[in-house]
Amino acid sequence: MLKTYLDAAIEIAQEAGAVLREEMERPPTIAYKGDFDLVTQADRRSEQVIVRRLREHFPQHAVAAEEGTGQETGSDYRWHVDPLDGTTNFAHGYPCFCVSMALARRNELLLGVIYNPIYQELFTAARGEGATFNGKKIHCSKIDSLKSSLLCTGFPNHKRLANPNIHYYWDFTLRSHGVRRDGSAALDLAYVAMGRFDSFWEFGLNPWDTAAGVVLVEEAGGKITDMQGQPYVLGGPSILASNGFIHDEMVKVAAEVAERRNSSDKSTE
Ligand code: IPD
Ligand code: CA
Ligand code: CA
Repeated sequence: MLKTYLDAAIEIAQEAGAVLREEMERPPTIAYKGDFDLVTQADRRSEQVIVRRLREHFPQHAVAAEEGTGQETGSDYRWHVDPLDGTTNFAHGYPCFCVSMALARRNELLLGVIYNPIYQELFTAARGEGATFNGKKIHCSKIDSLKSSLLCTGFPNHKRLANPNIHYYWDFTLRSHGVRRDGSAALDLAYVAMGRFDSFWEFGLNPWDTAAGVVLVEEAGGKITDMQGQPYVLGGPSILASNGFIHDEMVKVAAEVAERRNSSDKSTE
């Protein structure tokens, strides 16, 4: 059954990806959900395709989609859908964005599909079956020290001032080969799964941003927790994904940053 779900998700993600490619040819129609939180016709059209096709294939399943057109059915099966992850990139013509879809049964993530329609890069994973990139098995990197690692992070489009990440960005930049900020959390996680990045972290992501990437990283042999090293909860306040080898070092640095921030908050009280 898992294969049936996965095959459908791949087909649907590619169909939605074709819509994004088509939309890329026109001037973007940008609206704002918040001061810097963009939404375009491409987000909406892609979601329309995905939700419609999921309903056709699996009418009983619940669908949680970012732009709000999913459905609640009371089913144990729930799709987490980001119809366009990397909207800001899309709106600026920067070809780093994707469709991200994951299926969960209750609290267990079963599969994930992430598709960059511009580079036609397809990432898939099914629980217990491994992860693939364009049909070939992938694994996380084997780099075992932070100082030799390439990292990635992201900053939210809302409540930017309340987000602590700039402090973590500073420390991790000084202690690694560098930190990229690519603007698509789903692709960032897929890149950890295939070894382009050794780790990715971010604060304040939603379930549709991370669900597919979490399955990919875990099936590629990596590790997922929150920034304190505790089990990651979908939609929780932070996520830390890594190849596993540098995970403890990342958690340790994160704890130092948090501790420094606590002390400086106290000294200004
Ligand atoms: C955003 C991207 C970005 C991340 C933001 C997300 P969207 O998703 O994943 O990389 O830093 O926190 O909201 O809005 O482009 O779907
Ligand atoms: Ca997103
Ligand atoms: Ca989105």
